Amino acid sequence: MTPLIVDTDPGVDDAYALALAARAPEVDLRAVTAVFGNVDLPTTTTNARRLLGMLGRGDVPLGVGAERPLIHPTTQRAADVHGDDGLGGVAERFGPLGPEPVGRALDVITSVLETAGEPVVMAAIGPLTDVALLLATRPDLAERIGRLVVMGGSIGIGGNVSAGAEFNVWSDPEAARRVLVEERVPTTMVPLDLTHVVTVDRAWLAQLAASGPVGEALAATRDVYGRGERLGVDRVPIHDAVALLEAVAPGTLATVPLELEVDTSLGPARGTVLADRRGRVPGGRTVDVAVPDGTDVDGVRDALLARLGDHM
Ligand code: BDR
Ligand code: CA
Repeated sequence: MTPLIVDTDPGVDDAYALALAARAPEVDLRAVTAVFGNVDLPTTTTNARRLLGMLGRGDVPLGVGAERPLIHPTTQRAADVHGDDGLGGVAERFGPLGPEPVGRALDVITSVLETAGEPVVMAAIGPLTDVALLLATRPDLAERIGRLVVMGGSIGIGGNVSAGAEFNVWSDPEAARRVLVEERVPTTMVPLDLTHVVTVDRAWLAQLAASGPVGEALAATRDVYGRGERLGVDRVPIHDAVALLEAVAPGTLATVPLELEVDTSLGPARGTVLADRRGRVPGGRTVDVAVPDGTDVDGVRDALLARLGDHM
């Protein structure tokens, strides 16, 4: 089983992702770290505790990460999408609370990386602040990360926070630039271009709800979460779960290697990811970007349902 660390800002789709990570037979969930993002840090931390408790994974150490971006403070959160409690207004349905955090995120991650004895997979499904801080302060640990899977960015369909920016990158563009452009960890980025295609409908959610208490709680977030995403039709994206699926089952998503740039200006393009499609530049760093072309979208939906259902 591959050791896995998840850095997350729960968040409704983060809850789906954690449920997947906690149960996937291919991975050994070694740590969860909470970062600010969809809601503030105390709330993402409490939500991570709720989820680990509900999933029966109180054994997984929880670390407390960054409470704000590296450089420029942002106050905008995503309560309009995830509800004030971050869990679709039904946080109390997730529980009981798992154990208190064991320490700071960077210490928890460092300990896993130093002791794993094999490459660790990291999934970053919130702002990239914790990952950037880790790589900046402990560059020697970068080689112990076998693969980093990031939910973030949008390379061709526009953003969900601004015209060009996706929420996780927009929340801390300087951190995202460090991780996606400057560092060299083998990285797969799962952008909106794919997660806005792998959406789920009410029939899918009804099957999930029927599978047992975890599925029921996840599906119960729908009224608030579905309202906030404003995709127009009666479908919702579960971005972070799609990324987690790729983390636990590599190769599930089709990817293309692209050189990326992140706009860190303070203008209207702040937080936008630019993907260079002119072909590989020798020596340039590429990131594997997940794309709909070549991805079995129905297969991904089925796999998510099979893995998330309580007794499927
Ligand atoms: C990302 O932003 C958050 O709102 C979600 O949890 C996901 O990680 C999608 O843009
Ligand atoms: Ca998230």
